[in-house]
Amino acid sequence: MTTARNPLLRSAFEEIAVPRVLLDHRIITEGDEQALLAEERSAFATSVVKVQRASGAARIVARELMRRAGMPPQPIVKSAGGMPEWPDGIVGSLAHDATVAVAALARRADYLSIGIDIEPAEPLAPDLLEMVATPAERVAIRDAPLGGRLLFSIKEAVYKAAYPLDRVFLDHHDVEVDLAAHTAVLRHGRIVPFVYAQSSHIVALAFVLPPEMANAR
Ligand SMILES: CC(C)(COP(=O)(O)OP(=O)(O)OC[C@H]1O[C@@H](n2cnc3c(N)ncnc32)[C@H](O)[C@@H]1OP(=O)(O)O)[C@@H](O)C(=O)NCCC(=O)NCCS
Repeated sequence: MTTARNPLLRSAFEEIAVPRVLLDHRIITEGDEQALLAEERSAFATSVVKVQRASGAARIVARELMRRAGMPPQPIVKSAGGMPEWPDGIVGSLAHDATVAVAALARRADYLSIGIDIEPAEPLAPDLLEMVATPAERVAIRDAPLGGRLLFSIKEAVYKAAYPLDRVFLDHHDVEVDLAAHTAVLRHGRIVPFVYAQSSHIVALAFVLPPEMANAR
């Protein structure tokens, strides 16, 4: 299947490249819902076509990344909590906004978990800012018009990386983001590094390294 791409996003992805993490995106296209495999479909049985299409698009990207990683493309079913289940030896993450789907993939030997998010590069509604940002974060982004949206995106990516390991629900204020240090500290103490880029969209990638590699950073 040909992949429709956005050139601005392609360069954003180059900016957030981290070693041994494969990333790509696809412009969500009519018919992408057909890409959901039989094993994946039951989780979307009651979803509207728009949702099935976005999730199908993300899986097209993920399966292309599997091919690039030298493995056969496989189903990515949703577990009860909504979390995607990856083939043995692989970790990954999916995200979609209204127009674009993204996926990230890595070997479990290199990363314990990864999380990706994509958001339109538009300011967050002012009434959402207090819900998303802690007081310290609001100070850090006071001169950044897209700062609220950036924090939102980073926190979603961090949540997606942390949840499969900890199975802990996190509120936005349970994650304290340090933009300068590129790390997020979670309520239960885990520290999650992240990278981000901004173009037509904001893209954030969070990752958890195995302990021996994290200590060497
Ligand atoms: C996981 C979550 C953040 C996804 O956000 P979203 O705006 O619904 O959707 P996105 O497009 O960004 O991501 C969707 C993908 O997230 C993945 N996902 C869903 N739940 C997940 C979880 N618990 N852990 C990891 N990934 C998860 C799925 O792959 C999903 O794609 P799919 O439906 O095609 O399989 C959201 O559903 C959620 O559970 N939020 C509650 C926690 C939270 O947001 N706290 C505030 C930030 S700390």
